[in-house]
Amino acid sequence: MTNAVDIENVSLVFGGEGNNPVLAVDTINIAIPKGQFVAIVGPSGCGKTTVLNMLSGLIPPTAGSVKRNGKEVDGPSRDVGYMLARSALSPWRTALKNIEMGLQIHGVDKATRRARAHELISLLHLDGFENSYPSQLSQGMRQRVAIARTLAIEPDLWLMDEPFGALDAQTRIKVQGEFINLWERSGESSVIFVTHDLEEAVLLADRVIVMTARPGRIKSDTLIDLPRPRVIDELRFDEKFKDAEHRIWKELRDEII
Ligand SMILES: Nc1ncnc2c1ncn2[C@@H]1O[C@H](COP(=O)(O)OP(=O)(O)O)[C@@H](O)[C@H]1O
Ligand SMILES: [Mg+2]
Repeated sequence: MTNAVDIENVSLVFGGEGNNPVLAVDTINIAIPKGQFVAIVGPSGCGKTTVLNMLSGLIPPTAGSVKRNGKEVDGPSRDVGYMLARSALSPWRTALKNIEMGLQIHGVDKATRRARAHELISLLHLDGFENSYPSQLSQGMRQRVAIARTLAIEPDLWLMDEPFGALDAQTRIKVQGEFINLWERSGESSVIFVTHDLEEAVLLADRVIVMTARPGRIKSDTLIDLPRPRVIDELRFDEKFKDAEHRIWKELRDEII
């Protein structure tokens, strides 16, 4: 079967024409089968966002090949939902209209847009807040609207860049739980979830990839053998979960400290 993602011998150099080229990503290889949830962790500046940018078609690799569904990436596509690290909502649009935005950009008709947005409102427990503006929503709600906006186009690849980084600990656990439920119900979608939080990576993912400090290389690649569906707020105390986290922490520690 064709992989969702094939990253083969990919390197990325910034500022190649200038005097100080920066090697951000150094010869990485990642193959992701369809339907897998992969988390990428690594120190700040190791190239995590750069990897997502290459996958989304925003920047081409300097060397190597980046493929989605067996085809070389050559630009943005509707099959990819990309939630940026600091993706802001439009302050002058209601929650519902924010969620519809991506669909509108892709030319989906109004009735279909509306129906899909309402469905996501309900899946993410935002009922009653359809007509609220971002400033009237809590931080956790705003984040759920941003998730809904990313997923409204029904992408088969979800690229998430530290989506819960700004949330307080309790809200984070709640939104993580909703997010993982949404994905577990979605069928065949593949996810690449970038986070600096190892606990979050192990709780959510089927597989955790650790990147080295710059230039970013693959340091370790570990399958997480925990059953699904996952109950995030319970799993945190599970011995198997803690063992997995500890094993990967030993890899990550050297890169951070
Ligand atoms: N447009 C750019 N021009 C030059 N250097 C960049 C650019 N974008 C990122 N970098 C550098 O590339 C490295 C990787 O960046 P990034 O992918 O954002 O890291 P991460 O997301 O892991 O924190 C960093 O050292 C960063 O400073
Ligand atoms: Mg980043």
